[in-house]
Amino acid sequence: MIAPTGMGKTVLAKRVLNYRESRHAYICVMATKPVDEELSELERRRYMRVKDNKIWTAASYPRLLLWPDAGSFDNLSEQRKRFRSALQGMWKAGKWTVHLNELRYLTDNLGLKREINTLYLQARSSKMSLIGETQRPRSVPLEAFSQSSHVFFGPCRDDEDLKRISGIGNANPKIVRIVVQGLERYQFAYVNAVTGNVVVTKTQPFTLAKAS
Ligand SMILES: Nc1ncnc2c1ncn2[C@@H]1O[C@H](COP(=O)(O)OP(=O)(O)O)[C@@H](O)[C@H]1O
Ligand SMILES: [Mg+2]
Repeated sequence: MIAPTGMGKTVLAKRVLNYRESRHAYICVMATKPVDEELSELERRRYMRVKDNKIWTAASYPRLLLWPDAGSFDNLSEQRKRFRSALQGMWKAGKWTVHLNELRYLTDNLGLKREINTLYLQARSSKMSLIGETQRPRSVPLEAFSQSSHVFFGPCRDDEDLKRISGIGNANPKIVRIVVQGLERYQFAYVNAVTGNVVVTKTQPFTLAKAS
């Protein structure tokens, strides 16, 4: 999911999680921000909010909202430690679905680029599913593009960003660019990297959007 803040990435990601939930997948949502209303809402969908988790085998609670304290520089090393050990645990156990929110914060601010790149490259062999949210396509590790089967682009007018998003799997770069340039708020272009299909969709919040 690639779009500026407030454009509905998390709402969309939660729709995708619905599919994983219906297949009884083990899901871990990594929350990086101090406050995120859309992620808090997951608690009403039987996700357990925890600051840390140690068990990643089948004995683990299957819907985790991993949310270490955030919002202060003092929290950075703790966040890094918790997320790193979670990624490690899930990779070892296999079959987990991970929602990385947000990708750039994890790779750059917490210095987990190497770990996340490795997961993108190896996920398939350990049957993991990775869902990443990010604001700019330029700041995403290349692997997140090249290894993803499904990509959702929100509205984008920036030339450099548009260049970066053109080369997704078998999709026609010109079509992707034109479609993405014409998107409105809460609209996303879904690109199937395998078939090359491009479809425009719109987010549908689970709760009514709050006037903020
Ligand atoms: N189609 C929509 N109509 C109205 N509000 C929406 C729609 N999609 C998302 N929202 C609201 O917009 C806000 C931002 O959505 P969110 O998914 O958190 O964005 P992002 O993850 O891109 O920052 C949330 O309050 C969400 O409920
Ligand atoms: Mg979000």
